[in-house]
Formats: sequence, structure tokens, C-alpha cells
Amino acid sequence: MERLGRYSAGGGRAVGVVKGPRARWWRLSGDARRDAAAIQEAAGLLRRGGLVAFPTETVYGLGADALNPSAVRRIFVAKGRPPDNPLIVHVADPAGIPAGLVAEWPAAARRLGEAFWPGPLTLVVPAGPRVPAAVTAGQPTVAVRCPAHPVARALIAAAATPVAAPSANRSGRPSPTRAQDVWDDLGDAIDGLLDAGPTPVGVESTIVDVTRWPPVLLRPGGVTVEQLEATLGQALQRAAPPRPEEPAAAPGMKYRHYAPEAPLWLLPPPEDGTGPAVEALQRACAAGQRVVVVGCREDLDALAAASHIPIPRVDPLIAEQPAVLPSRPLGLELGPRDRPEEQARRLFRALRAADHAAATLVLALAVPERGLGRTVMNRLRKAAAEGRCAGIGRPEDPGGV
Ligand code: TXA
Ligand code: MG
Repeated sequence: MERLGRYSAGGGRAVGVVKGPRARWWRLSGDARRDAAAIQEAAGLLRRGGLVAFPTETVYGLGADALNPSAVRRIFVAKGRPPDNPLIVHVADPAGIPAGLVAEWPAAARRLGEAFWPGPLTLVVPAGPRVPAAVTAGQPTVAVRCPAHPVARALIAAAATPVAAPSANRSGRPSPTRAQDVWDDLGDAIDGLLDAGPTPVGVESTIVDVTRWPPVLLRPGGVTVEQLEATLGQALQRAAPPRPEEPAAAPGMKYRHYAPEAPLWLLPPPEDGTGPAVEALQRACAAGQRVVVVGCREDLDALAAASHIPIPRVDPLIAEQPAVLPSRPLGLELGPRDRPEEQARRLFRALRAADHAAATLVLALAVPERGLGRTVMNRLRKAAAEGRCAGIGRPEDPGGV
């Protein structure tokens, strides 16, 4: 995780400030001393009840002072987020949870916190008396995370208050992995944006409920299930699939999200030259659809060969407006099949790039479900249009808004 210590939005340039209609957009240099003034200003906004978007190692967050109920309520308005969906509270110090934030710190929290904080892990524990109901959505628990990104930690420390922050996207949209994504979704609703370049992990934190034993996996994320289970010496329980008539374990799990504008079909990659993806691509192209295919390198190769349709590729981390004829399918490559971290880093960029490419149909090819590949598949299932996960299983595991 050594790379998490470095960041830069501006290729080493000095801190720059862009003034939008309302918000300030600070382009950070990656040099803690030069960035300190911007971070202090952003912390001042938080202390005065403002909304500040900031980078974490997973995705950009939309932050407010977690102890200020009216600031917290502004998050829900800005995102268009259902009020029954609680927020994660971010702390700066892995060993120092602010007084009154939690009522109890179970042994499993201690063990997992020691192993993975600072980092992409969120722990659900009994809530303390100082947490406003707006943060917990009235639940008796609170979700706590100590992020690893140096800007996130410096901001929270400078604000001297825990920071409530969901992902800084409009509700339902793919999570933002760079400042421009935040600006596109929320530029007119925030007070400040700290831009430290693309986020290194690319998918949100793993959420584990440690109020029960064995702990329950509420959302797969940046720390893998394999890592957690090795640390606990114990298999995690899986959250039950949400039923409409019951409150969900992680309320975010009942909503569809991460979705691009076009319908997304999640399909198995071609095998032996056939499969539903081959048929779907041929039919959609014949019907004049603008198809974007998201998948691993080898699977895009196999699909192009099996369908006899060339699929020009771009790397979603680099290209935003690919110069490809609208009559051709466009491939957004997540990376090789055996590199799940690469796939995770590109996933949300690819889903947003599909929108920029004006896709009318997104065909997503399933990735191997190992390590972070499970997280990638969790997000793809949540993004898939109703009933369009042929042969891939149902969207039964939790997600987040
Ligand atoms: O990586 C992340 O976790 C990012 C960055 C910004 O830290 N944050 C993030 O927050 O993904 P959000 O709000 O997009 O997703 C949080 C998820 C939601 O599904 C919510 O329902 C769940 O966490 N959650 C929050 N508090 C909870 C609680 N007390 N019990 C169960 N689930 C909770
Ligand atoms: Mg979210």
C-alpha cells in the first residue's frame, strides 16, 4: 500500500484553485507542505457546516461534520440520497476513536482495525451518544472507517471532528474515482473539492458488522474476504439477501446503483467461441445499437474473434471521449483476467466512460470471482438492469449508494 502515500492532481504543480459557480476546487500538488493551506481551508468549511468532497484511497467522499445534524442533512439533499440509508463516519487516527462516537468496540473490531486501518475497511459497531440520528438513519449502530489516503487523514485531523462521508456521486450513479466525476455530479451542490488525482483502489471499502460473531460481511470492498477471514481465523457470515418487507442489514443494499445511463447486461465471457455475449453483441450491432463492452483483455479478444466483430479498445483510465465510429462497438478494457486490482481501479471509470461514449447498451463480461474480483462482480450485479445477469447469479449481496 506504499503508493497510497503519494498523490498528485497536477503533475507536481503548485496548489491551484479553481472557482466554480459555488465550490472551490483545489488541485493538490502531492506535497503535504504545499497542500496544507488548502486542506486547512477545506477543514474550515467543514467546521462551519459546509460540504467538502475529498479523496480517499477507495473513491472520493462527500464530507460533512458528522456531529452537526444540519450539515449531515445537506449530504442527503446534495446526493438525492434516501434518508433511510446511513453514512460512514471517517476518523483520522486508527487508534483513537473520538469520545461518544461508539458505545462499544468489540474484540473483532480491535483485531480488524489493527490489521487493516488505516485502509479500505468499514466497521459497524454500536453507536455512541454523540452520533446524530441523521448519520445512522436511526439505527443503533454506526459505521466507522479510518481511511488511508493522506489527504483524507489530514483533512479529518485539521477539522478536528469525525467526518460523515458517502461516496461523492449522485445517488445511483457510479462512484467517483477522480475529481472531475465529483464535479460532474455535484459541482453545484458542494462548497469545496480537494483534488488529489485518481483514487488508487477504485472501489469502496469493505463493510463488516462486528456487533455479531462471526462478523457479517455487509459489502465486499477494497479489503478482500480472504484477507479478513485469514486475520479473524474465522469465516465471515454473509448478509441475508434483502427482502422488500424487512429492513436491510446495510440499507444501501436494497437500491440499484453504480449504473451507467444505458442498460447494462452482465454476461459470462465467451467460452469455446460461443455464449450469450456473442449473440447479444451480434444482435445489438445488427440493430444499430451503440454498444460498449466492458471486460478483461482476454475476454474482449475472445468476444471479437467469436462474433467476427472488431472491438476497438481504450483504457478507461486514459480515454474519456474515445474517437471511435458510433457504428462500431467500443471496448473498455479492465485489464488482464489475473489482475483484479487493475479491474477494480478501472471499473467505475469504465461505467462513466460508457456514458461519455453515448452507449445505448453496455455489455459487461463477468470477471473471475477471486480477491477484489468479488467486489467488481458485486458492483456489476448491482449495476445490471433488472434480470440481465444471465448465468451470473443474482444481485444478492450488499452494495452501497
Ligand atoms: O469507501 C467507502 O466506503 C466510501 C468512502 C468515501 O469512504 N464511502 C462509501 O459510502 O462508499 P456510501 O455511503 O456510498 O456507502 C456506505 C454503505 C451504504 O450501503 C450504507 O447503507 C452502509 O454503508 N452503512 C452505513 N452505516 C451503516 C450501519 N450503521 N449499518 C449498516 N450499514 C451501514
Ligand atoms: Mg455510495
